[in-house]
Amino acid sequence: MRILVVGGGGREHAIVEALARSVHNPTLYCTPGNGGTAALAVGVKLDLDDPAYIVDWAENNSIDLVVCGPEGPLVVGLANLLEVAGIPCFGPGAAGAQIEGSKVFAKDLMERHGVPTAKGDAFEGEDAAVVYIEQMGAPIVVKADGLAGGKGVVVAMDVETARTAVHACFAGDFGESGEVVVIEEYLAGPECSLLAFTDGETVLPMVPAQDHKRARDNDEGPNTGGMGVYTPVPVVDDATLAEMVSILERTVAGMRDEGIDYRGVLYGGFILTADGPKVLEYNARFGDPETQVILPLLKTDLVDVLLAVAEKRLSEITLEWSDDAAVSVVLASGGYPADYKTGVPISGVAEAEKVPGVTVYHAGTKLEDDGTLVTDGGRVLNVTALAPTMAEARERAYEAVSCISFAGMQYRTDIGLKALGKA
Ligand code: AMP
Ligand code: GLY
Repeated sequence: MRILVVGGGGREHAIVEALARSVHNPTLYCTPGNGGTAALAVGVKLDLDDPAYIVDWAENNSIDLVVCGPEGPLVVGLANLLEVAGIPCFGPGAAGAQIEGSKVFAKDLMERHGVPTAKGDAFEGEDAAVVYIEQMGAPIVVKADGLAGGKGVVVAMDVETARTAVHACFAGDFGESGEVVVIEEYLAGPECSLLAFTDGETVLPMVPAQDHKRARDNDEGPNTGGMGVYTPVPVVDDATLAEMVSILERTVAGMRDEGIDYRGVLYGGFILTADGPKVLEYNARFGDPETQVILPLLKTDLVDVLLAVAEKRLSEITLEWSDDAAVSVVLASGGYPADYKTGVPISGVAEAEKVPGVTVYHAGTKLEDDGTLVTDGGRVLNVTALAPTMAEARERAYEAVSCISFAGMQYRTDIGLKALGKA
């Protein structure tokens, strides 16, 4: 069996690693891949903005399954083109991927199907948006409608910040993604991601995970793609989890009723309010860094799960999970999420992986021809540790982090503390 994984982040390294554990012993390809996937999958240089080219390559190389990590290729129809070519794809078609690609689409879908979310409105011009902000008052949240790599959201604690954010969107800071702006009420509560495998009929939830979006400790600093994650999440009790699962089921059923055949991961970004869980956003793919704690705990063969999703027979699968706790700490380039340098040499990864239970997933890394590992992105490495308890998983993760260094390296020291009631 030959599988192509699309993407080159920590998420894709974790996907490749889980596929490599399969009893089917697949031959793996990863495009573009990174310095970590290189050990398990053949790196292929394809233009991710050109889905037709990816499909051609997959046809010419007798690929049996394409697994798409990032949202970009899904939003422009990679799965649709693969379907025409008769190649199974893990990831929804363009219609379903709008659930991530357009916040307005997602909001309207939620409204039609009774999914609890923040109240808000969409605006195509700055003046009306500013009037709305002044009426609603702060705190208030401003979001670019389209894809912005997790950075198109400003949680404004005062009206002036909200006005500035609206101005930035309409001034083109997020390109076309900011031509429509969603403004919504601020919701307070802990956040939690719940991802589910779905073939459009059956919905199988994964273990809940808590990401840390802000750049610095104590949830300070700007929003990022995600700086660290842990599971299990004690704040999610059984009743809350049941409600979150029900919300994902209702979302999938709603899309199915509207003629959308959704196959892949449905990722719910939840906020746990005093009135119950509400959806902040959906993603049409595995989370990054959530995947770096979720897939290491999955005992079921990932090849079987992904093929069952692509071939619409997920009802045949039962997921089995390890009971371990998992913590993953993101090591980022100095300056991230703003400007940062690349090509900076990295040391200590092999030593870090000697710590029991630790795997280092590569994100923005590259192996130079002479074998030197260098930085190649904002989020550089994910240090994941598994252990029977959260306290031990944290200890192992940070012991491994202390082995690694590169000039400018920054990371949060508080990943997992909330689970221990210490943050
Ligand atoms: P999103 O990309 O929509 O998940 O937003 C990124 C982050 O902004 C979320 O993880 C939250 O931390 C925060 N956020 C988004 N919407 C809201 C909201 N309505 N209330 C409070 N925080 C929010
Ligand atoms: N961890 C946030 C995301 O994947 O969008």
